[in-house]
Amino acid sequence: MSDRYVVSGGARLVGEVAVWGAKNSVLKLMAAALLAEGRTVLTNAPRIADVPLMADVLRGLGASVEISGDTVTIDTPAEPDYHADFDAVKQFRASVCVLGPLMARRRRAVVALPGGDAIGSRPLDMHQAGLRALGAHSEIEHGCVVAAAESLHGAEVILDFPSVGATENILMAAVLADGVTTIENAAREPEIVDLCLMLTEMGARIDGAGSPTLTVTGVDGLHPTTHHVVGDRIVAGTWGVAAAMTQGDITVKGIDPEHLRLVLKKLEGAGARVERFDDGFRVVQDSRPTAVNTATLPFPGYPTDLQPMAIGLATVSDGLSVVTENVFEARFRFVEELVRLGADARTDGHHAVIRGVERLSSAPVWSSDIRAGVGLVLAGLVADGDTEVHDIEHIDRGYPNFEEQLRSLGGTIARITG
Ligand code: UD1
Repeated sequence: MSDRYVVSGGARLVGEVAVWGAKNSVLKLMAAALLAEGRTVLTNAPRIADVPLMADVLRGLGASVEISGDTVTIDTPAEPDYHADFDAVKQFRASVCVLGPLMARRRRAVVALPGGDAIGSRPLDMHQAGLRALGAHSEIEHGCVVAAAESLHGAEVILDFPSVGATENILMAAVLADGVTTIENAAREPEIVDLCLMLTEMGARIDGAGSPTLTVTGVDGLHPTTHHVVGDRIVAGTWGVAAAMTQGDITVKGIDPEHLRLVLKKLEGAGARVERFDDGFRVVQDSRPTAVNTATLPFPGYPTDLQPMAIGLATVSDGLSVVTENVFEARFRFVEELVRLGADARTDGHHAVIRGVERLSSAPVWSSDIRAGVGLVLAGLVADGDTEVHDIEHIDRGYPNFEEQLRSLGGTIARITG
């Protein structure tokens, strides 16, 4: 049996919360620590389940890792092991990001492929094509990505799609390659910019961070650094949407509002008043939200990780909303759970069409991934009665102190163990 939440509907969320570093950044920064022998320190790390899992992956490669509060210290040996085996990586997908650093340091890598994911297929063809362009062989053998190179040389890489993971792996392989690599159609997410920042602090030469073209001039070696992880825009955006859904008033600190430009614009479109600060924002919603259309796209588009929240908002908005998913095809599975809560929603291919109702009605529901799980909790907040959200270990993987933060805003939530 896994844990579940019981969420009581009806509260208007009011107050202030702070976000920690981004899950989708810290895991890659931990992998990047493999690029330099010695002690790398990451501060502002979120206390989420994926951080100790990534620590285990790095330990399996010979690093020592200490997690103390929001500080992660990684001591990388002169010669890390190159084999991340199935036991280490099976629990979560982000472990694939050790591929690039291992190629850079060891010129070879064997990284077991994690199992399927509930949000859609996640192939590695672009990661492999990039490594091949840099001079490596890369195949899938016996459930592992196996890559090796005599030497890595700079190359021109053009991605078919601005994949976050492929951009990161190719970038981390290229920083220690001979010569200049350009990555075109590169991902532009703030977490990529954060990785470029840390790599530059370590001595890498990278131009174009945050633009569609990254130019990397290989260097002979990198040195460890101390780095502050960029704030989690997905957690921050979740609280912004929660304010709009519950007709509340939430201030979020620890985030650059530029990282949520489109999300905050959409909330304004739904009728919210949004104030932006240097290190956060405030969302105030005084009346029932109005329907807005949303289409997920790579940054600076609407993040796919906030798509469940956009649908949650649509379920109680006045009017008809169309939400289009362009990144992960299976992300609509959770819409069926929302229908159990009384949502008037249907999906057709990449589109979900939602006619808002005044209020949802409580029911037991099941989370299929991190973001869908939180989307269901938000839906529970606007349902009559108590909603049971099952399989909440997904939420533990990405939302630090979730229950405490929700309670501090006036939400009623209880965790039932087992
Ligand atoms: C990362 C994030 C995830 C987020 C996603 C998109 C982490 C740990 N996860 O995932 O939360 O939702 O970015 O912002 O950072 N693709 C291929 N071939 C490849 C690589 C990707 O076809 O070689 C496809 C995927 O199937 C998907 C799309 O490209 O349809 C985007 O994937 P990608 O940007 O790579 O996402 P992740 O890095 O896996």
